[in-house]
Amino acid sequence: MNFLIQASYFAAAFLFIFGLKRMSSPVTARSGIVWAGAGMVVAVLVSLAFVDTGNPKWQQNLGLIIAALLLGNVWAWWQGRRVPMTAMPQMVALYNGMGGGAAAAIAAIELYSAHAQGYVQQSLALAGALIGSVSFSGSLIAWAKLEGTMQKSVRFSGQKIFNALVLLATVLVGLSLLAWLTDLKVTLFFIGALAFGVLMTIPIGGADMPVVISLYNAFTGMAVGFEGFVLQNPAMIIAGVLVGSAGTLLTLLMARAMNRSLANILFSNFGETDVTGGTVTGTMKPAEASDAAVQMKYASKVIIAPGYGLAVAQAQHKLYEFVKMLQAAGVEVKFAIHPVAGRMPGHMNVLLAEAGVPYDIIHDMEDVNSEFKETDVAVVVGANDTVNPAARTNKSSPIYGMPILNVDQARQVYVIKRGQGKGYSGIENELFFKDNCALVYGDAQQVLVKMIQALKELS
Ligand code: TAP
Repeated sequence: MNFLIQASYFAAAFLFIFGLKRMSSPVTARSGIVWAGAGMVVAVLVSLAFVDTGNPKWQQNLGLIIAALLLGNVWAWWQGRRVPMTAMPQMVALYNGMGGGAAAAIAAIELYSAHAQGYVQQSLALAGALIGSVSFSGSLIAWAKLEGTMQKSVRFSGQKIFNALVLLATVLVGLSLLAWLTDLKVTLFFIGALAFGVLMTIPIGGADMPVVISLYNAFTGMAVGFEGFVLQNPAMIIAGVLVGSAGTLLTLLMARAMNRSLANILFSNFGETDVTGGTVTGTMKPAEASDAAVQMKYASKVIIAPGYGLAVAQAQHKLYEFVKMLQAAGVEVKFAIHPVAGRMPGHMNVLLAEAGVPYDIIHDMEDVNSEFKETDVAVVVGANDTVNPAARTNKSSPIYGMPILNVDQARQVYVIKRGQGKGYSGIENELFFKDNCALVYGDAQQVLVKMIQALKELS
């Protein structure tokens, strides 16, 4: 029996890692999720089998366990099916918070019932409790910000010092628990940890929430890993370590793609301050959707740079319909994807995959950036910061140093956007004022409908 349990844990670990590997490419990502999900099913089943089934508590709680499994599965399946693509980050925040909360709940049981024995086990339980609680309450705030339930960031003077004191007090209560465990101190410890999660998240702007969610995702992984050690459950340790390391890497990758440090994201109030980012010269030139479409039809090469506005407009299907018409006219079309285009990692790839765009015409920024120089038309669909040349040239710009798509180097640039709205960083975009750039105003979906119509009328 023991061999079977160990072998199943090994199988679960293999499935997690294999699934994660397949998630690294959009071509295999879907199946990667299925493989990792299968690993989770194995891990849950083997954890249930591992329990001493003769234990009367197990028999008493079996009904509750089954009810929790059913409720969780049905709810998640239903939610997962109906969530729109633009609401995905908040769903991830919510589920991630639940993971952190579950890890903290395990720690609470271990601490209140004094099951965790010895310094090592108690320290691990406390570490998991602290990190899991912060992830739980912080993720709920992140969810509220992304959902729009909480619209304003909360800031007050001395906030950083106050937050640091709350954390310090919580850690001190935690350390004192190692010497003398009382229910009151455990309760105070949890209140402090949950409060710190809220305090740490409320000053951060909504636009930085994807990075924060990814950080809390890493926290949840670590908390689960720590509690896995306490419960001596290998599946929890492996899953926790994988989530913790993947979340940390993703957080750092996002920060690097924005050329910002994690500290800057957590503490700088970026995107909410009124910044001009230097003076911009020139005028914005409007263009008709039909004129832009006709010019593209007679171009030999077109590169499309999609951004957050594509997701807002849900224009991916119309965009691909338009692209197919250009291809039918003999135009070479490519998509250029900035690593942080949109509001979450891989946002654009997922949208384009949903519309059926073949992967071989979707290119990462570093692979396609050198091609803009020899491109007839670059089309920016609802993107802004990710195509702002100030990031290359203007040292006073808050986005200076952020790698961008060099759309401005194309012979002609068309930008599809609704009006004079700024990008998420809140700064003006120098691209819109350049001689080779024209703006096609309107919701991306409506503009693309007009462009498709214009091409139909030509043929
Ligand atoms: P943004 O800079 O946010 O610009 C989006 C543009 O889309 C806006 O200028 C807006 O202008 C336009 N837009 C909005 N709705 C539209 C619609 N229905 N139809 C047409 N246009 C519409 O987007 P981006 O270039 O994708 O850059 C992403 C930003 O998010 C970066 O600054 C990045 O650092 C940040 N960020 C990304 C991530 C990840 S992981 N992706 C994480 C954290 C932060 P109008 O209002 O005038 O239409």
